[in-house]
Amino acid sequence: MKNILVIGTAGQIGSELTMHLRNIYGSSNVVGGYRKTMPAEEVMESGPMEKVDATEPEKILEVVKKYKIDTIYNLAALLSAVAEEKPQAAWNVGVNGVYGILEIARENNCAVFFPSSIGAFGSSTPLDNTPQDTIQRPGTMYGVTKVAGELLSDYYFKRFGVDTRGLRYPGIISNVTLPGGGTTDYAVEIYYAAIKGEKFVCPLPKGTFLDMMYMPDALDAAVNVMEADPSKLKHRNAFNITAMSFDPDIIYNTIKKRIPEFEMEYDVDPVKQGIAESWPNKMDDSAAREEWGWDPKFDLEAMTDDMLKVIGEKHKKGLI
Ligand code: SER
Repeated sequence: MKNILVIGTAGQIGSELTMHLRNIYGSSNVVGGYRKTMPAEEVMESGPMEKVDATEPEKILEVVKKYKIDTIYNLAALLSAVAEEKPQAAWNVGVNGVYGILEIARENNCAVFFPSSIGAFGSSTPLDNTPQDTIQRPGTMYGVTKVAGELLSDYYFKRFGVDTRGLRYPGIISNVTLPGGGTTDYAVEIYYAAIKGEKFVCPLPKGTFLDMMYMPDALDAAVNVMEADPSKLKHRNAFNITAMSFDPDIIYNTIKKRIPEFEMEYDVDPVKQGIAESWPNKMDDSAAREEWGWDPKFDLEAMTDDMLKVIGEKHKKGLI
């Protein structure tokens, strides 16, 4: 039986991943770790919860020992745009934090999941059909920390045999916890604006293509890579995964087909534009498909139907 610790349970992915893991492995076997922001009531009350900060290894170690943790999902990070405002804090969480967690994993025989990102690439990377193994010279602090995390994860596996595994996530679109400070957040916010009957102000220009994915596929990917047969893994870490690629105009028109009165205008944020233009338009995820069976279920149309349904229901109930 697995005993799991999720670090970053209050975040966009962490909040849903904690519940997903509790459904699979049993509520009492999945500890939710949060720092300042209190996770939703459903998360707080469905299983063990502990205050842990990714940059405080002593407390993480205490929790690992208390619950005999054997698997850590480390989701703590500052997203790309906010990391440009606070690069020192982003380094501390994304590099020092990751190092501390890998050391705990080494000493306590834990497997570690590390979410890397499309942000681990930069403008010298081939941006179309971005290969699994290619040039990585990101120009953002977020990207620097993600490359460091990928390399550290590989190192801890090769040097110490720590069972590290990870993915390069694209922009994740979801309807439970809002992302904060990311370059791809617009693709979440646009659905909320559409349902609330607001005009959406888009921070990225038309023609900026980025990889994206709906949350249910992102959750399955994390579990599936951790459960994959290790003898089939040539990479272990930093697998490119994607489910769709679109620009603001395409997602806008996909929503507008369903809500004809929906309007969008552009007010480009130069920081986000610079970041987005240095990231892939579309990654090649064939290594993930071949090595552990990556096969996303949601495309843009199916995701849009589901997003509008779920957010629409929340709106009717006055929850948003
Ligand atoms: N969603 C992230 C961001 O935009 C990318 O991994 O920062």
